[in-house]
Amino acid sequence: MIPNRAAFPQGFVFGTATSAYQIEGHAFGGAGLTHWDSFAATPGNVVRAAHGAVACDHYHRLEEDLDLLAGLNVDIYRFSTSWARVLPEGRGTPNTEGLDFYDRLVDGLLVRGIKPAVTLYHWELPGPLADRGGWCNRDIADWFAEFTWAIMGRIGDRIWSAAPINEPWCVSWLGHFDGCHAPGLRDIRATARAMHHVLLAHGRAIEVMRTMGLTNLGAVCNMEWSAPASTRPEAQHAARTYDAIYNRFFLGGLMKGEYPELALAGLQPHLPTGWQDDFATITAPLDWIGLNYYTRKIIDHAPGPWPNYAERPGPLPKTQMGWEIYPDGLRDFLIRIAREYTGDLPLYVTENGMANADVPGHPDTARCAYFGQHLAAVQHAIAAGVPVWGYIAWSLMDNYEWAHGYDKRFGLVHVDFDNLQRVPKASYHALAQCWCRAD
Ligand code: FCB
Repeated sequence: MIPNRAAFPQGFVFGTATSAYQIEGHAFGGAGLTHWDSFAATPGNVVRAAHGAVACDHYHRLEEDLDLLAGLNVDIYRFSTSWARVLPEGRGTPNTEGLDFYDRLVDGLLVRGIKPAVTLYHWELPGPLADRGGWCNRDIADWFAEFTWAIMGRIGDRIWSAAPINEPWCVSWLGHFDGCHAPGLRDIRATARAMHHVLLAHGRAIEVMRTMGLTNLGAVCNMEWSAPASTRPEAQHAARTYDAIYNRFFLGGLMKGEYPELALAGLQPHLPTGWQDDFATITAPLDWIGLNYYTRKIIDHAPGPWPNYAERPGPLPKTQMGWEIYPDGLRDFLIRIAREYTGDLPLYVTENGMANADVPGHPDTARCAYFGQHLAAVQHAIAAGVPVWGYIAWSLMDNYEWAHGYDKRFGLVHVDFDNLQRVPKASYHALAQCWCRAD
């Protein structure tokens, strides 16, 4: 059972999300090469070396996809703008075709009565900036500010909300420590710098957008509930370290102007000189915080160098990603974020959903159940007094799931990657019914 619109407070918004590289087709419209293109072209990084050259061909199927959004009865659509589509060299002369595309997208949403919720950066760093050190180079804050001017100068007058960077943890830790996302580094010094610079770039982009007079600006962080594998003190410590790095580092920087001690224990020697002085920029006031939530992890102690943790398999039912389904984590995070970091600031669930090996025509009951359980968790958080103002399902359609290529299907709409035909799944119809407006 998925709770419907009437079961949420007046004004609560529902939506769905995508991101540029995952759906647009980066071979089209003059977009420049990105670090995801080079990461995918390096053997062993991505399943079947799949890349985003065509993806869902959203670039050419914009109108059809906008109609799918309208049919879903969403209030808002969370999409991202590709830096390399707007500025193919990362800096300098904008690509008019790229700006025109986002212009059409925003107008197409407004015509259908859907609020545009933009994320400026969802991971496709322009190659020429990667050549200059990417997120490890402090100058990225200025480059990102230039990009912010370029894209928001064109669409900023019509957007409903904006967040600079999707999931700072993925940008920095997954890409520079775990090495399983672009740029594929495994280096603690690069990681520490990227973690800090991503927040600095966020702060600069907020400054730029405030100067432009834009409102409803936020930040989107992803979180995984960290459960200790046992009652042993080492396991407890490992779980707290995981929590500090994954969940507390970025919110701590944004909301309190400090990094957690358990994260600094390993990262401090590698942070750039004078990092504390950047908090004035990083803590630029925000209008909301977005939480992307999918799962929890069971964490144990691991020998060797910091951070001394390892994931253990958990007992709960799992999605196609192998991720445990744990809706309580969503409720508990919303409560914890409000109590410990954000107070009265509105919170949004900016991503939530599950991958399933879907076959068109088959009812995707597991996904419907997942949405039902997680929306109930949101209701519980609201009942506990947390100001949750909206919920955004990931994702409108099956798409390029990064290092997993096209194998993992998160969509409400099935995409046949041979002919790019779109077929709404049962979860699409179920949500469309729940989100139908009485007026
Ligand atoms: C999030 C990403 C999104 C998608 C989902 C499954 O971390 O923001 O692009 O890959 O996970």
